[in-house]
Amino acid sequence: MIFEPFKPFLAPDFRVKFATTQWERDGAGALRRTVFCEEQKIFAGDDRDAIDDVAVPIVAVSSLAVADDDVVGCVRIHEADLGLWWGSRLAVARDYRKMGALGTSLIRLAVGSAHARGCRRFLAHVQSGNATLFHSLHWRTLEETNLHGRPHHLMEADLAQYPAIRNPETGFTTLLRQAA
Ligand SMILES: CC(C)(COP(=O)(O)OP(=O)(O)OC[C@H]1O[C@@H](n2cnc3c(N)ncnc32)[C@H](O)[C@@H]1OP(=O)(O)O)[C@@H](O)C(=O)NCCC(=O)NCCS
Repeated sequence: MIFEPFKPFLAPDFRVKFATTQWERDGAGALRRTVFCEEQKIFAGDDRDAIDDVAVPIVAVSSLAVADDDVVGCVRIHEADLGLWWGSRLAVARDYRKMGALGTSLIRLAVGSAHARGCRRFLAHVQSGNATLFHSLHWRTLEETNLHGRPHHLMEADLAQYPAIRNPETGFTTLLRQAA
């Protein structure tokens, strides 16, 4: 008997929102450890730092028909100075990359929600391998630099391209672009 190879099941839609529940915050923490400690090996064991004490965590949650399912994307934002906001720790679970525009949606909620809270500049240290993605999303490189021993771009978002998002606790839904 021959078994057809089958693709793993991927949840069809996602809600991108502020992490308002403990399981969403825990899910973001677990995803960050998977991506930044195990996959990229930038940090050993735990990537939490002092910014987590003040940052707002944002998640992409996969949705099944009746219940929220899993945290498959995350990012965090914080205001470092009046009107100056930073985004960091952007991550999408491996199986969900380049198929649901999840990274793009997380960036949209991060910058749009900061915009609604009085952000006048939004910056991020972006891994150089992702600079092209950010350039395509209306960010510009201010400086090339090294962070955690790796090449990064210090980048700034064009706020005119990121309308204020005033309901980030609810956020918005984005659909999986299912591969054929
Ligand atoms: C970077 C990351 C968050 C992007 O998430 P994603 O969900 O794959 O991003 P999107 O699907 O929204 O990508 C949008 C577009 O950019 C493309 N893209 C994604 N990552 C890219 C990259 N590194 N370089 C160039 N293009 C990229 C996608 O193919 C897609 O193009 P398309 O619309 O023509 O198909 C994800 O790859 C990830 O978690 N990487 C590991 C963690 C990491 O590097 N984090 C640090 C970010 S500075």
